[in-house]
Amino acid sequence: MPGFASRFDWLGGIPGAPSSDIKANRGTRNGWPGGSPLTAPTIAAIARPMKTNSEIPFEMVLAARAAEVEALMERLLDGRTRADEIVRPPRLMQAIRHGALSGGKRLRPFLVMESAALFSEGGEAALRVAAALECVHCYSLIHDDLPAMDDDDLRRGLPTVHKAFDEATAILAGDSLLTEAFAILADPETELAAERKVALVAALAAAAGAGGMAGGQALDLEAERNTPDEQGIVTLQAMKTGALIRFAAEAGAIIAGASAEDRERLSSFGSAIGLAFQLADDLLDLTSDAETMGKATGKDAGRGKATLAALHGVDRTRKQLDGLVAQANDLLEPYGEAGNTLRAAARFVAERRN
Ligand code: IPE
Ligand code: IPE
Ligand code: MG
Ligand code: MG
Ligand code: MG
Repeated sequence: MPGFASRFDWLGGIPGAPSSDIKANRGTRNGWPGGSPLTAPTIAAIARPMKTNSEIPFEMVLAARAAEVEALMERLLDGRTRADEIVRPPRLMQAIRHGALSGGKRLRPFLVMESAALFSEGGEAALRVAAALECVHCYSLIHDDLPAMDDDDLRRGLPTVHKAFDEATAILAGDSLLTEAFAILADPETELAAERKVALVAALAAAAGAGGMAGGQALDLEAERNTPDEQGIVTLQAMKTGALIRFAAEAGAIIAGASAEDRERLSSFGSAIGLAFQLADDLLDLTSDAETMGKATGKDAGRGKATLAALHGVDRTRKQLDGLVAQANDLLEPYGEAGNTLRAAARFVAERRN
């Protein structure tokens, strides 16, 4: 991959690893190669919770939240060994940082923060839950790219973790990020009532595990061999992608101690945009290119993978996306203008270009 060598100076001295200044050369985010154009004052201006009827473009708000969560993840994944631990191996930590701190839209953290903001200030606890969820997402991407799974070389405009390091290290980096997520939730610095923390742990475990994302990945790999019908595809997508996005939206209600009805409503909102998110991903895999996406495209067809986009075609998939956005908007009805940022998120998910 020409041009990548100069991006990896930060790994200097690690045998077998490329080197780069990953901070100066973030992967692609929000269509801005090289990372967000936001300056610190702009980020500060996009206060949380967002003011309604704001003129600020959605992508700017998303990038501001991304900067917040990344600053926290930078600290949480700084490589220092913690109390009760023995030692954090530097090369493993560098692989973890490569997989977690090199770009990405940070949509799931955004949804955690903005769904919490529907009910309250959100605050530091929402940010920490957002970071925990992003750790799970980054682990899922590292493992998704492995040769035994999708066998991809490019992620967020950079070499995948197993390419930049090696397969065993990529597996262990994923394992570590998944575990770190629960450590972040349990940490006393995540200042939430114990029963809310337990509810978050249970919901995240259900979303990430065999009956959620990991199970969906298993069904997704099977879908390369035994073509599932439409309902089968919807189920696997609700699991592999929908489950974490649904958790993201529901988490806000849990953090804020909102009513069971609100939690259910946010969970349904998350399901709708979760399905939309994977539909858009499959459409982009069909219609976009690696430079725009920061990852390979044309992979699903190449592997004979059953997707709704392949089954229904581009036009019908776009109509289905419109329907899901309308459904998501309806679910936000009771929140009035306070739901505007999440409405914009639903539209972004369906119309995104990367
Ligand atoms: C990619 O997720 C994997 C899918 C679930 C389709 P994103 O498109 O959110 O990836 P990043 O985090 O922005 O790189
Ligand atoms: C990945 O789906 C979903 C998870 C990582 C759980 P894809 O395999 O379609 O994601 P991309 O296209 O590689 O990002
Ligand atoms: Mg995959
Ligand atoms: Mg993949
Ligand atoms: Mg894909």
